Amino acid sequence: MPANSENYFPGLEGVNVDTTRLSYVDGQKGNLFYCGYSIEDLAEHCNFAEVTYLLLHGELPNQKELDDFQEELLAERYLDPHLKSIITLTPKDGHPMAVLQALVAQLAMHDKEIADRSLEAKRRKAIRIIAKLPLVVTYFENVRTGMRTVEPRMDLGHAANYLWMLTGIEPTPEAVKVFDTALTLHMDHGCNNSTFTCRVVSSTEADIYSAVVAAIGSLSGPLHGGANERVIHMLESIEELDEVEPFIDAKIASKEKIMGFGHRVYKVMDPRAKILRELAGSFVVDDPEMDKCLKKANLFYKITEERFQAKGKMDIWPNVDFFSGVLYKALGLPRDFFTPVFAISRVVGWVAHHFEQLEDNRIYRPRFIYEGAELGRKFKDMDKR
Ligand code: CMC
Repeated sequence: MPANSENYFPGLEGVNVDTTRLSYVDGQKGNLFYCGYSIEDLAEHCNFAEVTYLLLHGELPNQKELDDFQEELLAERYLDPHLKSIITLTPKDGHPMAVLQALVAQLAMHDKEIADRSLEAKRRKAIRIIAKLPLVVTYFENVRTGMRTVEPRMDLGHAANYLWMLTGIEPTPEAVKVFDTALTLHMDHGCNNSTFTCRVVSSTEADIYSAVVAAIGSLSGPLHGGANERVIHMLESIEELDEVEPFIDAKIASKEKIMGFGHRVYKVMDPRAKILRELAGSFVVDDPEMDKCLKKANLFYKITEERFQAKGKMDIWPNVDFFSGVLYKALGLPRDFFTPVFAISRVVGWVAHHFEQLEDNRIYRPRFIYEGAELGRKFKDMDKR
């Protein structure tokens, strides 16, 4: 038996890997805080730039600080023509998460400050990444649908500009508000997998772009951010409301995971799911298909909860990914854009964690419990194997 086997925590459940000042998840009460502020307050009163400032500086900005910060973001709201031509050459059936990974690596190659390891340069790179990520995916959508490319607008906020670039249509104030709120809700979330990935890569002192590329890869997985896309796929595969119940029962009977449910930390309903559910219900779009989708989602949520409670699984509730997809569908986003939307928001948390990691860095280097072949096996020459 290996000596260190008692220190084995599958999935690192319950293990504290470092400290943070950024966010706190109270899984028992279902609360989430950014820098001490409740997510409910921030979602109601702030926009993307304000909450981004909060996570990068630890305090909410006053008006002057916010204006200056928005200027910084706007100054980076463009894509180099070479990057645009790379997006034009990207396979149109590539997943937008793969496009994001590839293009963030390209951004690194275009960054003239890449070798500058000063904190000021790193901060400028962080702003650059936050400002350019939405442009990469919206430009890719323009190209793959063959529509005219939509240039960014400097008179719009981060959320509004994203919706504008995606469709070339001026978004309504209601659409901007719900989208801004959704972005705020996804920015940071304790030691989630992609943030941990970002911290692990950052701990090698690799550059911020490498840490973000790795984090995007982590987020794309179906057990993490990739769940939102699968939720809507699941809901769309159910044609009528009376098919919801048998669908859930079949999933549970086959012990399949239900996408958008369950969480490592929350033992009650995820507070972000509560807000997103309300937003999805209140954001009215005049579309019978959307109306039906919302009804299916609510019915799905109720029946699934009843089934889990009846089985004594009291801690499986909808997570952030269950209702976000319904909201994004109502906003007219393509299904494969749901996880990229998560990424353009969570990138704020990633870069903030990159800085925290470097403050008092120690490289992550845990161990594996070895359970392979007998040690010291006799080597066999090629002709004897
Ligand atoms: N459907 C059915 N059963 C579930 C689900 C689910 N979605 N989630 C957990 N369980 C059951 C699981 O089968 C296990 O039961 P048992 O003890 O009888 O074997 C028990 O609950 C514990 O599950 P686990 O998979 O060991 O829990 P975990 O903490 O390792 O995983 C999770 C957490 C989020 C990966 C998992 O709940 C899951 O796979 N959910 C579906 C995918 C999903 O919605 N992911 C988004 C996560 S939240 C936002 C984000 O990070 O992007």
